[in-house]
Amino acid sequence: DKAGHKHFMAKEIAEQPVVLGDALRHYLSDDGRNIALDDPKLDFASLDRLTLVACGTAYYACLTAKYWFEQVANLPVDVDIASEFRYREPPVPPRTAALFVSQSGETADTLAALRYCNGRAERLLSIVNANESSIARESDLALPIYAGTEIGVASTKAFTCQLVVLLLLALKAARDRGAMTEDQLADKLSAVRSLPALMNLTLERGEEFRRASNHLAEADHALFLGRGMLYPLALEGALKLKEISYIHAEGYASGELKHGPIALIDQQMPVVVMAPRDALFDKTVSNMQEVMARGGKVLLVTDRGGAEEADDGVWWQLIVPDCDPLVAPILYALPAQLLAYHTAVAKGTDVDQPRNLAKSVTVE
Ligand code: F6R
Repeated sequence: DKAGHKHFMAKEIAEQPVVLGDALRHYLSDDGRNIALDDPKLDFASLDRLTLVACGTAYYACLTAKYWFEQVANLPVDVDIASEFRYREPPVPPRTAALFVSQSGETADTLAALRYCNGRAERLLSIVNANESSIARESDLALPIYAGTEIGVASTKAFTCQLVVLLLLALKAARDRGAMTEDQLADKLSAVRSLPALMNLTLERGEEFRRASNHLAEADHALFLGRGMLYPLALEGALKLKEISYIHAEGYASGELKHGPIALIDQQMPVVVMAPRDALFDKTVSNMQEVMARGGKVLLVTDRGGAEEADDGVWWQLIVPDCDPLVAPILYALPAQLLAYHTAVAKGTDVDQPRNLAKSVTVE
């Protein structure tokens, strides 16, 4: 049942404020001021390292989480693509927990990576949507994301719910490791609790995303740029666009622009920049100027402050509500999804069942 939407993907994008709120209710105390994750298997004080392993969109959630764990909890994190990890057979140092992220819980490579870590890692953790799945069963502790059934092949609500569980884990790690004061933690939790409302405000601007997407739909290639915590989201934005609209898209860390991809810039290739006005915004402004100086068209997704500061030459601006920089990757996931969705609709592709793709990849 698409609940009045044209596609399951549209329904699942729209559901995010509600399902993310569900996840928060499960993982926060009743007053919302504490993280309710008191399982002894989740004591980050006794760990020296975390290894995150996944595929596709779930892998991008892991890449984002690396920034969170390292910044707020001072915990070193390795992130790996499951198909690489399992055959590389890397050493697993002592006091390492391995965490596997999978919507379906049945992805063959992620499951094989988990089995490789069995007996090597201190702890096998997973973040899943399917609680009865193989990955959930074979881990010491499986944390559900409470996203509800996801039918669209392109992951949307599972991604943001994975992100929020990862962020809460990072904040719990900060508490366990004494890396944050109680006041700082309360402040960050309040930023997390504000997400459903901020997502609703973003979704209300759907029409602006649709109009921008009508122009994106004319391109054969697109580049996505982001810095810091928004870099993994540039990768995710490019993946989403190519999966469902079949437009060739690549995501890059903004700072890598000069190291190659700038050679591609011309009027034919829009450059989508995801950049809230955070501590790195000035750097991103220079990247945008480099693109525009070469005739490139910049589509900037930013907040009000960013829009004021960005250069006049920006081709298209999409404004997202202000938020704490820590939660920006979760909020900015919606623009990435909406651009891909509306571009695919404009192109008339099969949004919910893109060619060649399966929802659950249970074979290599
Ligand atoms: C992209 C997408 C895929 C999955 C990947 C992992 O939109 O959905 O990249 O994220 O196949 O799947 P799970 O999370 O089920 O392990």
